[in-house]
Amino acid sequence: MSFLKLMPLIKISHKWLSLLVGLQLLIWIGTGLYFNVMDSVKASGNQYRVKVTEPAADLTHLVEPKQILQDFDAAVSLSTITLLSKPYYLLTQDKALYPYFKNQYTLVNASTGKQAFVDKSMASELATASYNGPGNIVKVVKQDPPFDDRLKEKNTLWRVDFDDEINTRVYLDASSGRLAAHTNDDRRIVDFVFMLHFMDYAQERSFNNVQIIVFAIFTLFFALTGLIWTIELGFNGQYQFLSLFGSKAKSKQIKIFDKHDKLIDTLAMSSQENLLDSLLNHDIALPSTCAGGGTCGRCKIKISSDSRTTSADKAHLSQDELASGYRLACQHRSDELTSLTLFDVTQASNHLLKLISSEFISPYIKELRFKTIDGQPVSFKAGAYMRFFIPAAKGIAVPVNLPPELMHHWQDVIDNEYDHLACSRNYSLANGDGQSNELVFTIKIQMAPDSVVKPGIGSSYICNLAVGETIEAVGPFEDFFAKVEPTSAPMVFIGAGSGMAPLKALIEEQLIKLTTSRPIHFYFGARSQSDLIYADLFESLSDTYSNFNYIPVLSRPTDDWLGISGYVQDQLSLDFELLLGTHSIEELEFYLCGPAAMMNSSIELIKSKGATDEKIAFDDFS
Ligand code: FES
Repeated sequence: MSFLKLMPLIKISHKWLSLLVGLQLLIWIGTGLYFNVMDSVKASGNQYRVKVTEPAADLTHLVEPKQILQDFDAAVSLSTITLLSKPYYLLTQDKALYPYFKNQYTLVNASTGKQAFVDKSMASELATASYNGPGNIVKVVKQDPPFDDRLKEKNTLWRVDFDDEINTRVYLDASSGRLAAHTNDDRRIVDFVFMLHFMDYAQERSFNNVQIIVFAIFTLFFALTGLIWTIELGFNGQYQFLSLFGSKAKSKQIKIFDKHDKLIDTLAMSSQENLLDSLLNHDIALPSTCAGGGTCGRCKIKISSDSRTTSADKAHLSQDELASGYRLACQHRSDELTSLTLFDVTQASNHLLKLISSEFISPYIKELRFKTIDGQPVSFKAGAYMRFFIPAAKGIAVPVNLPPELMHHWQDVIDNEYDHLACSRNYSLANGDGQSNELVFTIKIQMAPDSVVKPGIGSSYICNLAVGETIEAVGPFEDFFAKVEPTSAPMVFIGAGSGMAPLKALIEEQLIKLTTSRPIHFYFGARSQSDLIYADLFESLSDTYSNFNYIPVLSRPTDDWLGISGYVQDQLSLDFELLLGTHSIEELEFYLCGPAAMMNSSIELIKSKGATDEKIAFDDFS
């Protein structure tokens, strides 16, 4: 699996890890503040604890220690203690490092030499002797560990509860009478905050717990995924690293004239962008259907007549135009000129779009739904397109998140990666204005024709965006739209592949929004049944609207296909007389969008039948 394919997983991991790390940081800040401002006396749990000072016991008539050592189990030590003014011998049979570790004692009445036991009454008296609060004893109970508020304690204890305002509890060692601890509600809050601060959820009373170790590993992954993401953004041109090394994009002031040679503005334009994109950054959109590819020849401007000419300039401009200084804006940059003259300018706005869904609707075509980041609807005519700004990035030949059922369609594609520069690409909207606040596109992921040529940069980039990611786009541009004619003559829509998008928008506009009664014929070509996108939608429209005729044509159908086989243009030729009906060819309107070969032969056919240019509208996205 290529590393790039892991990026979505890395990004999702980083986001969830950031939530986890962020929450723990908040907990640390909150609990740290608590430790700083808390009352240390309250926090100790000893508000009502007093130092027990036993009066001196009478030690003159005690049984000899030697006798005690003979009478009881072997002990490692023997000490004399006083409890409630009486002398006792404390035999220690098993001594641990700390009093709260498991110890073994025998308490012996030093006056009688008999074993003594800390009973309920003695525990109450010992607890009362250590307590100076206003409460009375309400409960005395002997408990074995574990204790919910004496977590480290491993010995059996007497628990004596007082009914004061902070619910004081006194713990005493049941075998030695040792005062183990005072605790109360304030102390229990401290213990809870301590647990949160040290992530000691298993109550081990240790900072070196497994939760801390796991959290440290998560934090390490959080940092690593963030670093990888940052590097990826850098490769995508996010930080303009080159400018750090002195290769700064130069900005140049360019004078802008209108076609009457009137100075309309002076704009700062980057030397690293072509003039088409630089103008767009100032909300000046030139006509274009190739998005700067140099193939449509529509982004005509005028600069100095001695400026260089590119092959695209020569292909689309006459010798006279070249000699007069006409050039294609997408082929030149600001460092070549000081002024330029605009002719056709389209009004368009920049939008930051957020991807809200991305679904394969055929093995190679995805339906992508965007919304503007501010949620504001964008108005446009059906058939419009938008120009997307594709940043410099690493492209991949095989799309990410390919559904399992589509994998076999891509199995022969070499799963390679390639670097590409920033560029812009045009994509038609598949929905019409007012259908929703969404901008819907159907985009075909363009595969590389061979191992030398890169796959489609724009289609691959957009189709691999993750839901929630954003992309800049300008538009919508309204070059392709339905004529508004007071006629009952048929409208003929002809398309194939991802040329579906604007045709779908136009047909839905006619049938659903305008409820036209004009006959509408839709010829749509695809290779096989799996490429027949939106078939259910058009069959449903065909059932609902008697004036709508949907004609899918497959060039390579499987054996179970009962519809028309062949090419769209061939079927169009066969049906032509039927399309005309009682109308003359001058009345019919034709709308085309799809691969160049299909459009060229269809337009040739239509013209050969007598249709004029005004009646043929096409969206040339090649
Ligand atoms: S945008 Fe320049 S030739 Fe198409």
